Amino acid sequence: MKVRPAAALVGDVAVPGVKSVTHRALLLGAIADGETEIRNFGRAGDTESTVAAVRALGVGVEDVDVDTVVVHGVGLRGLRPPDAPIDCGNAGTLMRLLAGILAGQDGEFVLTGDESLTSRPMERIAEPLRAMGAEVDTEDGRPPLRVRGGKLRPIAYELPVASAQVKSCVLLAGLYAEDGPTSVVERGAQTRDHTERMLAAMGARVQSSPRQASVWPVEGLRPLQLELAGDFSSAAPFLVAAALLAGSELRVHGVNVNTTRTGFLDVLERMGARVTIFNRRSVAGEPAGDVEVRPAPLVAVTVEAGEVPRLIDELPLVALAGTHARGTSVVRGATELRTKESDRIATVVGGLRALGARISERPDGFEVTGVPRRLRGGRMSAHGDHRLAMLGAVAGLASVDGVDVEGAEAAAISFPGFFELLESVTRR
Ligand code: S3P
Repeated sequence: MKVRPAAALVGDVAVPGVKSVTHRALLLGAIADGETEIRNFGRAGDTESTVAAVRALGVGVEDVDVDTVVVHGVGLRGLRPPDAPIDCGNAGTLMRLLAGILAGQDGEFVLTGDESLTSRPMERIAEPLRAMGAEVDTEDGRPPLRVRGGKLRPIAYELPVASAQVKSCVLLAGLYAEDGPTSVVERGAQTRDHTERMLAAMGARVQSSPRQASVWPVEGLRPLQLELAGDFSSAAPFLVAAALLAGSELRVHGVNVNTTRTGFLDVLERMGARVTIFNRRSVAGEPAGDVEVRPAPLVAVTVEAGEVPRLIDELPLVALAGTHARGTSVVRGATELRTKESDRIATVVGGLRALGARISERPDGFEVTGVPRRLRGGRMSAHGDHRLAMLGAVAGLASVDGVDVEGAEAAAISFPGFFELLESVTRR
């Protein structure tokens, strides 16, 4: 897919529903008592994997229309082991959160995934689940994951890595842990709190603060009727493009602006872009708003470990913004990037360097020196990683010669229709 250089992004867009919340709504809807309706369902490769997984576990999921589903919950302990391994596709969130729920079911479950997912670390969830009393096996720390559920006990667990997926896995297992709250302590910045919010809305007893989240065991979960706001991480490529292309006037409407997710807006502001969130409202128990980023000459920025969880999926876009900023931008304390759908330190640095960027790897991040002219452009591989495909597209708009994105179809993992929507607001 060739993305040609552009002068501006102009218009009003909306993006698919929050992927993280869609996964949670499907998984928790599956174990709720009754029907959960999810509107503006972020239908994409990853969330289709979750629909298929809960169906494989014996849960009915009705496709009402393209962006509405109804999940027929089977109750807290109603999931049944399928005959074949459950294929989690590319979705780390699915595998890690589902494992927490399966730890409380009777029977043995096997979870596997695609080439990328089966190379990602799973001991980070296996270890706390074992401490709670589940039997969990990995293959040298990676999938397939074998979970034999049963009687669980509560734990107080300090996260060794800042990960909402690990936190959520432990909290979900905590729904089944007799006699007590299960707590997860976060030493660094608070990771996304979608699980805590949804559990509370479903009637579970939850305490959540930036340092600790606790959940008490439940008898059952109340089903929800949800209409999801747009995914901030899907809005982000549009927002950074608007910051980079002088003359842009772009608004992304109805975006989830949960502050555990919007660190990228703070970074763009520090770099000199003008950011406005208006029409603030509450959507499905989460803050939402319309977001506008206006272009400006950018200056370099430093992102430290404490800020990383609030913009973990946007760090590739920070690198791109850095290529257009005066000075040297530094991202550190972001080793977690190496465990994503690709090693995003290596793939981002390699990809942008091939387009003419002055960027280099650090063990825990990268350094990028902005050039007083636009990126040259060229070819960039997505390495099967949806965030890389979208990075390549925005780099193309901001480049002199355009960018040929190899494997652009990877964008459909989180955002089918991304390239068409981007093109529809591009002015050349
Ligand atoms: C997610 C949490 C993040 C993020 C991922 C989705 C979630 O992963 O990178 O895209 O839905 O909980 P970690 O929490 O493992 O960093």
